[in-house]
Amino acid sequence: MKIFLDTASLPEIVWAAGAGLIDGVTTNPSLLAQEDSETDPRDHLSEIARSVSGPVGAEVVAVDAEGMYREGRDLAKVADSIIVMVPMLEEGIVATRRLTSEGIRVCTTLIFTPAQALLAAKSGARYVSPFVGRLEDIGQDGVSVVAQTREIFMHYGLECELIAASVRTPLHFIGCARAGADAAAVPPAVLRNMLVHPLTDRGVDQFLHDWSKRIARSRAGV
Ligand code: E4P
Repeated sequence: MKIFLDTASLPEIVWAAGAGLIDGVTTNPSLLAQEDSETDPRDHLSEIARSVSGPVGAEVVAVDAEGMYREGRDLAKVADSIIVMVPMLEEGIVATRRLTSEGIRVCTTLIFTPAQALLAAKSGARYVSPFVGRLEDIGQDGVSVVAQTREIFMHYGLECELIAASVRTPLHFIGCARAGADAAAVPPAVLRNMLVHPLTDRGVDQFLHDWSKRIARSRAGV
């Protein structure tokens, strides 16, 4: 499964890309708003695109079809790797159709049901992004939306890729991987959580402790 780092933080992206852990980046207006307000967001996105090989999601903020289309077209010019993220609104579907007919890759975001995902795929979206954690916030099963969407896309041979988003825990990540998501949008903190295990740390401590005893014995000539 591909991992898209869900952040606009350049140091985090540089770290994860350097470690070979990520296949792209997803951003949203809230994440970009956390970054330096002096920098033009487009310059920031362009810097992200230079820091990672793979797609970079950049979201429109207009809510009318014409505005989304214009913004999407401009965002797509920032870098070849930009995927334009368009929210799952009626106007968004219209904008998606226009953008995709011009060869611009669109990810329909803020998906909460398999029906929304199917409609987004029909409108030409290259990616759909169901939000797992936000469904759980309201007591619904986000992973099952990913699983049902996968099943539906397989039935009809839809080529639209499934990016599980709002992945807030390693368990969400595993659930989405088991459900067959093509990618997961994972925040840096969750990626780091997935790296670690207390038994790994304890094992390393034990190995080093035993090794230092052996060194001490050999220095003492015993
Ligand atoms: C994905 O594109 C979104 O940026 C993200 O996954 C949202 O996650 P959140 O619900 O934790 O804010």
